[in-house]
Amino acid sequence: MGKRPIIIDTDPGIDDALAIAIALFSEELEVKLITTVAGNVSLDKVTNNALRLLAFFGKDVPVAAGAAQPLICELVDASNVHGASGMEGFDFPEPKKELLLKENAVNAMYRVIMESEEPITLMPIAPLTNIALLFAVYPQVKEKIREIVLMGGSASRGNKGVMSEFNIATDPEAAKMVFLSGVPIVMAGLDVGWKALVMPEDTEKLLGLGEVGKMAHCLFKKYRGGTFKTGLKMYDSCAVAYLLCPELFTVEETYVDVELAGTMTAGCTLVDLKGYLKKEPNAKVCMDIDQEKFRTWFLEALGKCR
Ligand code: RIB
Ligand code: CA
Repeated sequence: MGKRPIIIDTDPGIDDALAIAIALFSEELEVKLITTVAGNVSLDKVTNNALRLLAFFGKDVPVAAGAAQPLICELVDASNVHGASGMEGFDFPEPKKELLLKENAVNAMYRVIMESEEPITLMPIAPLTNIALLFAVYPQVKEKIREIVLMGGSASRGNKGVMSEFNIATDPEAAKMVFLSGVPIVMAGLDVGWKALVMPEDTEKLLGLGEVGKMAHCLFKKYRGGTFKTGLKMYDSCAVAYLLCPELFTVEETYVDVELAGTMTAGCTLVDLKGYLKKEPNAKVCMDIDQEKFRTWFLEALGKCR
């Protein structure tokens, strides 16, 4: 069995950086393309950050820039969490510009998916604007996608609004298009993201995990998705963890929709565990994660990033 081909759609983003590293250095995944989308910070910044990461990791994966803004909403970024650059805290090399395709993300994803002999897995760890545009412009790609394993949403409370999670709430219209696309979805939301914590004793071990571990330790000093003391939330690593170690998760298959019109609930995911909406399931929702096993897995995975 060869490596599983994936496309990562991302807005690096400190937690994105670690998820990308783990995917790139894993033996099981082949990252065919990295696409960028405005989210944590602007499109230019996230694209440069992706190119800086690839220069630092020494990995020549093509990058294609996508949407500079959500479909309808104004972009409200998360620079308060990731710093003004989006990856504050570490002095990365210059962006490897030769990896940046002239194609936009939608056309690049379409080409890579249609050219692939094997169905592609999409791993969006950012607002879903690019994915929604891909399905709108090229609906025929859907039958060549194995599944979408995304970081986003919440069956409980939010981290951008009372009930809304950042990736979904940044572009709710795009998220609704993706959840209703008919493509198989795995949703790794805040229910697991909040428990996927790097604790102080783990953070110290990072310093012994080579250059990537040291880089992570530097970024974590600036990361505001939790604290060194209470634990740093590795939201995006939940998506790659599902691909590499699905047994870490407790999953429920159910119907998920996205609220657009609620004056106080727009952008929240309705995870219909009790079947009130009487709709067929459209997603596997990660409802729990084995926290201790995640911590062990995370450090082992980072240890391979050399
Ligand atoms: O809610 C967490 C998500 O928002 C993560 O993808 C993080 O990178 C931010 O984009
Ligand atoms: Ca992200």
